[in-house]
Order: sequence, then structure tokens, then C-alpha cells
Amino acid sequence: MPNKVLVTAALPYANGSIHLGHMLEAIQTDIYVRARKLTGDDVIFMWADDTHGTPIQLRAREEGITPEQLVARAHAEHMADYRDFGIGFDIFYTTHSAETEHHAGAIYRTMEARGDIVVRDIENLFCPQDQMFLPDRFVRGQCPRCKSEDQYGDSCEVCGSTYDPTELESPKCSICGATPVMESSEHLFVPLSRHESFLREWLSSERNRLEPAVRNYVMSWVEQGLRDWDISRDGPYFGFNIPGHPGKYFYVWFDAPIGYIAATQKWCDDNDVDFDQYWKNPRGNTEIVHVIGKDIVYFHCLFWPAMLHAAGYTTPSRVNVHGWVTVNGEKMSKSRGTYILARTYLDHVAPDYLRYYFAAKLDASQNDIDLGMEDFANRVNADLVKKAANLASRCAKFVSSRLDGRLGPLPPDADRLIERAEDRLAEAAKLYQRFEFSRATRLAMEIAEDFNQYLTEAAPWKAIKKDPEHARAVCSACLHASKIVAAILKPVLPEWAQKTERFLDLPAPLDFANGGDRLPEGHVIGAYEMLAQPLEGQLLDRIIEASKQGLETKEPTKPPYEVPELAAETRIEDFAKIDLRVGKVIECKPVDGADKLLSLRIDLGPLGQRHILSGIARSYAPDKLVGKHVAVYANLKPRKMRFGVSEGMILAAGEKNDAITVVELSPDSQPGDRIS
Ligand code: MSP
Ligand code: ZN
Repeated sequence: MPNKVLVTAALPYANGSIHLGHMLEAIQTDIYVRARKLTGDDVIFMWADDTHGTPIQLRAREEGITPEQLVARAHAEHMADYRDFGIGFDIFYTTHSAETEHHAGAIYRTMEARGDIVVRDIENLFCPQDQMFLPDRFVRGQCPRCKSEDQYGDSCEVCGSTYDPTELESPKCSICGATPVMESSEHLFVPLSRHESFLREWLSSERNRLEPAVRNYVMSWVEQGLRDWDISRDGPYFGFNIPGHPGKYFYVWFDAPIGYIAATQKWCDDNDVDFDQYWKNPRGNTEIVHVIGKDIVYFHCLFWPAMLHAAGYTTPSRVNVHGWVTVNGEKMSKSRGTYILARTYLDHVAPDYLRYYFAAKLDASQNDIDLGMEDFANRVNADLVKKAANLASRCAKFVSSRLDGRLGPLPPDADRLIERAEDRLAEAAKLYQRFEFSRATRLAMEIAEDFNQYLTEAAPWKAIKKDPEHARAVCSACLHASKIVAAILKPVLPEWAQKTERFLDLPAPLDFANGGDRLPEGHVIGAYEMLAQPLEGQLLDRIIEASKQGLETKEPTKPPYEVPELAAETRIEDFAKIDLRVGKVIECKPVDGADKLLSLRIDLGPLGQRHILSGIARSYAPDKLVGKHVAVYANLKPRKMRFGVSEGMILAAGEKNDAITVVELSPDSQPGDRIS
């Protein structure tokens, strides 16, 4: 019986785009899933968007759309990004689903019945203007320790101290600027300490469940004493109602991991598979494997197992924690252009190269993974192009063109190398199961190195003159090695493996068991297919350039101490070159992924229509401008921007970081008329 395995990656929030940090996790999960499938395990990859909570609610409000619309847009975008990186999930669902509501309710009711829920009044900051309780991140004020202005409600970015939102001096609501007041309301708590002995046992019983470093610090949290966990929020809140508690909603982190269960429920229903074998099988041998980043360990290693245990669901068999993606040695930064969205990367470079690069750096630890742009190109070119692809291409082309495409017996002088390659394949298969991807891929490269050297020494292109059968045997050995390399790389580079299957004309798709099978004498191979091309450094520069455009930055573009200077002098004639026209806004929408931009369609009367991208989204809800007459800089050369071509500009002004005002003309003005 194959092992039954359910794998998840963390559910990305629906209020942001997928960036390369998210993609590291997706790639890690995908490689693991593919590797386990290639071992013969019965694996499903259950995934979704995380859709609830205040940030999503407010983001939707800012954009003038409903949270449901926001969530639907993110879902389509996220799914396309992941698919285009070759992530082979079985389902990408949403936590805003009937299945989540059902299981959240069921888990909650069971916990309540067991005495796992306590009710207590707490005081929180409430905005009288917005009529809502404010999460810590939505209150700003003066740090009570260092007195820096404009700090979050829970921690200060200047001195690093953490505090209670009530300690913040002159607090302001970050939505509307009003001064919040303290109000008390009833909250529901899970007393985690009731599950202390279960958690201790869960943390320490299985060696593979957590890496020792993770286990140690989770255990240290247990030692410090488990605090009650607040699982309720007051409305208005985008989320699900808590059964029996009108006006109370599940805190987003209560129903987010239940999204794993909900996705499974949906997938099981759609595919007529028994759900209970996965999540209602606490003592069975189904494995549940979560892949997450190091910032969300608390949720996955304390709250989550406690909830599952309390409600009689299957608890995780492994939580694998990865580190942070940095770019060129530093935290991803918008102003440096290193906050790279998955889509921006895809616009310039093939996804397989990044899959390989991350795999070559990933292990089971939570060490950060640096994407060094130069190192990236060097690594891909040295490993994939010069080692692995070169071996296959030299031999396949030679056999096809000079030796009728026929393979021969494997030469005795390669016996030792072949055996070693076959052992490495078996070893790599095991390493993948332990999330040791960098060691697995290194084994593939060692095989390629060995055989490239063997090939250079045996020089079949010379040998063919005197002993064509020896030349054939040498190439057959190297193609056998290429096949093993492809099998090892298959979880990382599925397309590479498929091409190899085709050009070697293999009888069955490669897996870890058949990867070492030797092709019979006389087997005829097909035409070589290009496996990899050198990666050019310029492509990577372009990713950085593109990431700088269209993204807002918080840092000032000039240091504040610089003496202000006027731009170069111009003449009145220069101004006269600008052709200003009356334009009527006929359509205005937000731009996916650019929270400053609005996309406008403008009627210039007899001059036709223009598409204009304008950086005014922070100041205007899209529907506010439709029908308005505005001043258009109509003879501006069209500019290609990251989000499309902009054919002109609308006149607007505002101080930096402040509201922008669009110049509005009388509704009686004629679209297309010249203005001055
Ligand atoms: N919605 C929660 C997870 C809920 S799981 C039930 C969340 N979302 S997130 O979008 O902020 O992050 C999703 C995953 O991406 C997390 O595992 C997080 O650690 C990971 N990463 C986000 N930025 C990252 C990097 N820069 N580098 C590596 N991983 C990063 O947390
Ligand atoms: Zn407010």
C-alpha cells in the first residue's frame, strides 16, 4: 500500500501579490510533492488563499470594491502565478468558502462543548468615527519608550520595543485619523494550557515532525507558559460568524489553517474521495505535512495542533519551516527593485531556472535563502548548461548524426561510474523525502561532472574512426547517466525530464525506481531537445528595473538634507508645446498590483479615445471620476509602463504623500477642445 500523504503550503493573503518569497515556499512544496509521487506515494497538495481579516476588509474599502471582489481578483491572479511557475497543486481553494465555515463551526462547537472556550471582557481601542475596533497595526502614535512619532500600536520600528496599544501616546486611527477610545467587549479565548501535555508529546514524540531547532524554540514557548488565545473579533469584520455569538467573528488565524481542511473537503467531494481518511483519522497512518515560513511557526506548532487535537481531527506529522528569501544579500526592498513579484520575474526569465536555483540552496533548515542575481546566472550556467545539458546534448547529437541513433552495450570501463550514479539516484530519492534538496541536486551535478570528464577522456569523436562500437558504448554510458540526472532533477525540472523521456524515447515516464534501468542494446533514440540555454545577466537587471517601476516606495528619493534646487530654466515656448485638451472620463478602474494607479479611458471628442494610467488611486475611488471633464496633456508621447501603455497625462497636483487633486473642468466644456 502506498503511503497516503497530504501536503500544504501556507495560504497566501488575498490582499497582496505573489512575490519571490512566496514562490520559494511554493517551489519547495511542489518539489517535495513531486518527489514523493516519484517514489510511489499517494500524495495530494491542498492549497488556498487566505481571505479574511481587517487588512483585506480595509483594502477592499480603499479600492471601492467589496471584499468578495477583492478576494476573487486575488484568487485568479495567485493561481495564474503559481501555475505559470509549474506548481502542481491539486486544488487552490479559498478560505471564504462554505467548507471553511462548516469545519470552523464544527471545530468550534466541539471545543466549546469540551470546555475549551472561555469568555472574557477585554479593553481595546475603538475608533468612534469608523465604528470599529482597531487591530494593533491600524493604530499609530508616539512610541511610549523612545517617543518616535508615527509608530504601530504593537511595536516601534525605531527602537524595536513592543508594547500594548493602550500604552501608545496620542494614538490615532490609521484609517481616518480620529483618536480612538478604549472600549470593552466580550472575547472568546482558547486556554492553550489545557493542551500542554498533548503539545509536549506532539512536539517531542516523532523525530521527523520538526527539525530540532524548531522543536527547541517551540518548546521554549511552552516552558514560558501557554497563554490564552483570543479567537474572536467584533464586527464589522470580514470573516465567519461564531455560532451562538451574534456580532462575533472568527479571528482570521482561527479559520486560516482550517482552509487546509476545507480545500481537502472540496477536493474530496469533487473527486469522490473519502475525506475522513485524511482529517478524521487521528490514529491512522495518513501523513499531514505543512510547509511554512519561519514567521508563522507559533500558529502551526501550538494553536493548530491543539485545535485539531481538541476537535478530534488528524494532527500534522511534519511541519517544515523554511527561511526568508533575501535578494543580493538584503531583505527584499521596493526601492532597490528587489521586491520582485512572481509575475515580473516571469515576464523576463523562465521559471525553471529559479526552481533549480532555489532547489540548489534549500535544505530542511530555516536558514535564509539568498537570491544573488550574479550568483543565480553563474549557478544556472555552470550547473544546468555546462554540466547537465552539455553532457546530454553532446552525446545525443553525436549518436543521432554519426551512429544511426542506436545505443550499444555499456562499456566495462564505465562500470564503476555507472554504479556510483545509480547509487546516487537512490540516495537523492531519500534526500528529497527529508527536504534536503540541495544535496539531492548536487548528486545530479556530480554525476554530470563524472561523465563529462569520462566523455572528454574517451573522446568518441576521435575513437569513432578506429572503433565505432567503442564510441557508441561511451555515448551510451553518458546517455544512461543523463537519464539518471534527469530522474534526479525531475521533481525540480519536470519539463527537463519530459524532454529527456522523449529524446531518449524511454518506454515509461521517469521515476526514482526506473531511472537506473538500462536501455537495451539497439535501442534507437529520438532527436535531441534543447534542455537549457545560458542565462544572461541583463535579463536579471531587467527584472530589477521592472520591479522599481510601478511600485510605490516609502523612502524619499532624495535625502532630506539636500538643498532644494529648481529644475533647469525653460521658456514660455516650451510650455506652449504642451497641447492641453478637454477630456471626458468614460471609464476608470483600479490596476491589479499597482495600488497607486488608476486606469482611465478618456474621450477626446473628435481626437478619439485615450488610455491613460494615472497615479491618483490613493486620492480617488475609481467611480468618483467617471463622467468628469478633466485637463489632458494630449500630445505626450505614449509611454510603455509596467501595467500597460499610457497615452497621455491628466493634470493633477498634490504635495508628496498628500492627497492629489485632479484639475476638473466644467461639465459644459467640449471634449477635444483646446484649453490653456
Ligand atoms: N496567510 C498567512 C498564512 C496562513 S496559513 C494557514 C500568511 N500569509 S503570507 O502571504 O504573509 O505568507 C505566506 C507564506 O509565505 C508564509 O509561509 C510566509 O512565511 C512566506 N513568506 C512571505 N514572505 C517571505 C519571504 N520573503 N521569504 C520566504 N518566505 C516568505 O502568513
Ligand atoms: Zn478611524
